[in-house]
Amino acid sequence: MINSNRRQFIKFFGRTGAMAVGISALPGCVLNTDEKTANQIGKLPFTPIDPIDSDNLVLPSGFNYHVIAKQGDAITDTQTFGDHNDYTAFYPLDDSGNDGLLWVNHENVSSLLVSGYQGSRSGVEKTLEQVNLEMEAVGGSIIRVRKNSQGKWEMIKNDPYNRRIHGLTPIPFNWDEPILGKTEAIGTLANCAGGITPWGSVLTCEENYHNFWGERNFETGESSGSPKRWDKYYDHPPEHYGWVVEVDFKTGEASKLVALGRCAHEAAPVHQEKNGICVVYTGDDKENECLYKFIGNEPNSLKKGTLYVANTEKGQWISMDINEQPALKENFKDQTEVLIRLREAAKLVGGTPLDRPEDIEFDPITGNVFMTLTNNKGKGNYHGSILKIIEKDGNKLAMEFTTETFIVGGEEMGFSCPDNIAFDKKGNLWVCCDIGGGELNKPPYEKFKNNGLYFIPMSGPMAGMVFQVGSAPVAVELTGLTFSPDFKTLFLSVQHPGETSRSLDELTSHWPDGGDSLPRSSVVAIHGEALDKLMG
Ligand code: FEO
Ligand code: CA
Ligand code: CA
Repeated sequence: MINSNRRQFIKFFGRTGAMAVGISALPGCVLNTDEKTANQIGKLPFTPIDPIDSDNLVLPSGFNYHVIAKQGDAITDTQTFGDHNDYTAFYPLDDSGNDGLLWVNHENVSSLLVSGYQGSRSGVEKTLEQVNLEMEAVGGSIIRVRKNSQGKWEMIKNDPYNRRIHGLTPIPFNWDEPILGKTEAIGTLANCAGGITPWGSVLTCEENYHNFWGERNFETGESSGSPKRWDKYYDHPPEHYGWVVEVDFKTGEASKLVALGRCAHEAAPVHQEKNGICVVYTGDDKENECLYKFIGNEPNSLKKGTLYVANTEKGQWISMDINEQPALKENFKDQTEVLIRLREAAKLVGGTPLDRPEDIEFDPITGNVFMTLTNNKGKGNYHGSILKIIEKDGNKLAMEFTTETFIVGGEEMGFSCPDNIAFDKKGNLWVCCDIGGGELNKPPYEKFKNNGLYFIPMSGPMAGMVFQVGSAPVAVELTGLTFSPDFKTLFLSVQHPGETSRSLDELTSHWPDGGDSLPRSSVVAIHGEALDKLMG
């Protein structure tokens, strides 16, 4: 049903959309009457839903879902699926695309649900066994997934490809110099979004590493220590985290890509030139941090190259090579230190502070680069936007670019805090939002109710309109959108249901199993005739 709220925000689109989107590019945004809006929605193969605050994953009629894997599921006889699943990436094992490997990031761990630790107020110290359980719940999973004879995706338990990479896995640095005297780190964690290389590996981004191993104060040399109290049993420096990590889908071989710098990397989409040289875009998801672009030196390799930071005011990519920047030479002893202290270095050469750069995707029709800027509350930006980056002459090797705000979040647009995005087969955009679990259903976010999944047509009379196509369970962030090769399935991460729970006696969610069950972060497969028609 199209209720008054929906009519209201679509109607508002006529007023705000021109500013946000650019009227010439998107003729649909001039619609401003209920009748026209209703006519356009009538052409969708589904009826958009309104904001909902129930403890369910709600989809419109014509869409169905089922859970493929949830936190704690056995993927082998000795390993379990991790917590807080985020980015997903699919690697097909045959031409049908119905059999493949699914990489899944595990961004965080709930002590309450995974180790049973009740928090420091309990007056009890976390045990080594609890710390190990938590360290094993972060990182990533590789699971074999296949469509069964009923056409339903399922995880193949004990498949030889199934493996975990987690907080205790030794991972070498793909760099010629040691990092704080070590050639390998122990573990990967805070794995948020990522990218896929053309040679069969996934890039997984270590985002909020400071929540695990703290951060160094480079003035005093002191580390802030582990907020999770892991440093009672292990001694790992903050500098070993905050990297983009490359993992081979089939072998699980992993390495940390130092050349891409160290920050709260959100995503790392990869573009490859005809000569094999790769370009990787990556944003630093923190208020007033920057967007970066890495251009490799050698085909099919991300070991060496040049890292650039974006000055969005001048429309320039600025080299972060210490040999090209006197300001870097004055402040850092070598390129390794520049890369470790990337945020400081970026500001010294003129990187533009942005409103929390999150996911980045390439528009498959135009090649333009789309990046979510989720919000910047310190600057009064509560609802975020999506930025379009147009490289000069459409060349991803270019040193100049222009930007346009593609769309802004807000009550008028019906969504807030855009985070993860994906383009579908038709070049239409799917957007997941991430209003913080504790902020949902409260001002200024109460109108959006639970976090949602949104569909934005990119061409035709509905171009630029926002249609809600999913509503998350309580306190969930929807994320990790990946389409199957035939676009008949959308894999989606449903992360941290009930993260607002104070204790096991006061759970705010029981998704996905319902009843009195514990909530579990899960990967779902969304499918159905409405999705088929959208891709048809
Ligand atoms: Fe892990 Fe910025 O989201
Ligand atoms: Ca995110
Ligand atoms: Ca994405």
